[in-house]
Amino acid sequence: EKGGHDYFMLKEIEEQPAAVADTLLGHFDAGRIVLDEQRLSDQELRDVDKVFVVACGSAYHSGLLAKYAIEHWTRLPVEVELASEFRYRDPVLDRSTLVVAISQSGETADTLEAVRHAKDQKARVLAVCNTNGSQIPREADAVLYTRAGPEIGVASTKAFLAQVTANYLVGLALAQARGTKYPDEVAREYRDLEAMPELVARVLQTVEPVRALARELAHSPTVLFLGRHVGYPVALEGALKLKELAYIHAEGFAAGELKHGPIALIEEGLPVIVVMPSPKGRAVLHSKLVSNIQEIKARGARTIVIAEEGDEAVRAHADHLIEIPAAPSLLQPLLSTVPLQVFAAEVAQTRGYDVDKPRNLAKSVTVE
Ligand code: M6R
Repeated sequence: EKGGHDYFMLKEIEEQPAAVADTLLGHFDAGRIVLDEQRLSDQELRDVDKVFVVACGSAYHSGLLAKYAIEHWTRLPVEVELASEFRYRDPVLDRSTLVVAISQSGETADTLEAVRHAKDQKARVLAVCNTNGSQIPREADAVLYTRAGPEIGVASTKAFLAQVTANYLVGLALAQARGTKYPDEVAREYRDLEAMPELVARVLQTVEPVRALARELAHSPTVLFLGRHVGYPVALEGALKLKELAYIHAEGFAAGELKHGPIALIEEGLPVIVVMPSPKGRAVLHSKLVSNIQEIKARGARTIVIAEEGDEAVRAHADHLIEIPAAPSLLQPLLSTVPLQVFAAEVAQTRGYDVDKPRNLAKSVTVE
């Protein structure tokens, strides 16, 4: 049942093209994005004037990614918050606020309480969830199910990619309801999403060198991750995977913050994994990241760079280059996350750890 792998997680990493494809399935019908359950009227959806995204762990990172797409496509302000913080604050919510609660299990205590906190203040709740019939979707006003299938590995992989995909669908559903995108534009964005499973599969076919690199770096005491724009949540997710699976100190930073503190951590031989934006799609940010790489390299860092195929400008600065296919900027995280998952899993295995059941962690955190 592990599909020839030693661990479920490794099989789940391989299942990601299907997780993304299945999550899209049935959610675009007769030219319109459709949710699975909608107990809200179209008018209520149109009246939304603010979005809060609440979640924990990897689901929170998928929520950070949602902000870029939802704001860009809908012109709605989006705040993303850890459910455990949101539920104890006094957030400004009313019936025009949409709270998007993202949870693989649908049973995470803090996310569930954040949903209740939102509903008490009359906000509308949309759940993005991987588990039919779980508590969070039951209490929500609308539901979009990710269809990653059961995820056994404690570290989220295929559910994360499915969440990122579902969040984009939520963004398009809101853009469609509000009319900030014409139907043909929504259809075009959807087609871009439809092309992603094949690209994820291509990334999976080329990760062998990532495994070799992971074995080489398996005993590093610290690994840093840098990214910008949508690469920033990817850096956070890469660091979380390495912490939880390999028990290595790992931090993700927004590359623009480097000079505000983190650069002081750079020393001879420190591995730094950098997620590059597209050289064409995000040319300005791309050149800033190249400068960041030069700065850390000059201070002795070992640079591991995830970049789009054909990104010649960064090649000279990368001690190790991991190439991913070109994709629309907002969708790149569906590709750049994959080598980071593989890296963390391989480091953990090299160190002799059980990647399905990392120490001290439970698959779903149903108590605080
Ligand atoms: O079931 P949920 O999506 O609500 O779980 C949220 C987090 O507990 C979960 O993503 C956790 O951070 C994973 N272990 C990450 O790999």
